[in-house]
Amino acid sequence: PTALAGRNFLKEVDFTAQEFLGLLDLAAELKAAKKAGTETRYLRGRNIALIFEKPSTRTRCAFEVAAADQGAFTTYIDPSGSHIGKKESAKDTARVLGRMFDAIEFRGDSQSTVETLAEHAGVPVYNGLTDDWHPTQMLADVLTMTEHGGGKPVTEISFAYLGDARFNMGNSYLVTAALLGMDVRIVAPKTYWPAQEVVDRARVLAESSGARITLTEEIAEGVAGVDFVATDVWVSMGEPQEVWDERIASLAPYAVTMDVLRATGNPDVRFLHCLPAFHDLGTLVGREVHEKHGLESLEVTDEVFESDHSVVFDEAENRMHTIKAVLVATLA
Ligand code: CP
Ligand code: NVA
Repeated sequence: PTALAGRNFLKEVDFTAQEFLGLLDLAAELKAAKKAGTETRYLRGRNIALIFEKPSTRTRCAFEVAAADQGAFTTYIDPSGSHIGKKESAKDTARVLGRMFDAIEFRGDSQSTVETLAEHAGVPVYNGLTDDWHPTQMLADVLTMTEHGGGKPVTEISFAYLGDARFNMGNSYLVTAALLGMDVRIVAPKTYWPAQEVVDRARVLAESSGARITLTEEIAEGVAGVDFVATDVWVSMGEPQEVWDERIASLAPYAVTMDVLRATGNPDVRFLHCLPAFHDLGTLVGREVHEKHGLESLEVTDEVFESDHSVVFDEAENRMHTIKAVLVATLA
């Protein structure tokens, strides 16, 4: 068994910086092995339950492909496909699935649900996104940053996150950077900064990791010299459509445009987005927003998204390699 055998991954700080970076090393090894056709199947015969109370393209597929590559089986439980949260509590669901499966992934609104599952399942539980944290996304993002960071060690990498920072992505970026000793800038209107308790937690972590934490409303100050600029959708899953008006009014100045990339002063700056992204309003939801608000793009322009600065599909691919690392480390 590995050092992380049997462990949950409910939020970034469940792991030490060393453990987090160890998972990235393992992900890089598994990625190289897959590309070379030399992957070893460490999870033959294992069964993993995937509970999704919200939609997913990347996270679901990453878990399914990672498991299949490793010889494990998955059962996908869609938002309407089980009793959890309706006829059956998370506690009972955990005790049932824990008898059948070797691990459980959960995506939903509430962090307390994934924590309840972990408390009662008796098998590792992974957070596939809650309103508070998106920890598996952070593994992919930091791996992508190391791959595109010009060979810099993690502690020398800087990034700015623009947009709604009160939700999973903003919280996770701040705390992950604080854990790993990175230079992170949250660039948003003050009302969109992470909650004070998240900022406090990050500041405590930064004291020992040497992380540099900046929260600012000023774009030029926030992005100066960064290696990476990241953003996320302005309206997250589960939020009512009515909030679009307020979000657009507050966050439009923080859209990632070519001017924002130029303001970094770094010609090699790279762009990150967890996806899905509203750069192309040809999608169904995008068309509705376009028709109502008359905007051509939201959190990122198509020009930035499609430019050579953009590494979003490497980032998306890395979801699979990093989730595979979590499965192998906790289950092999
Ligand atoms: N980034 C991410 O979690 O994407 P999905 O919602 O498609 O899983
Ligand atoms: N903040 C977004 C992230 C999607 C991966 C959401 O929660 O919908």
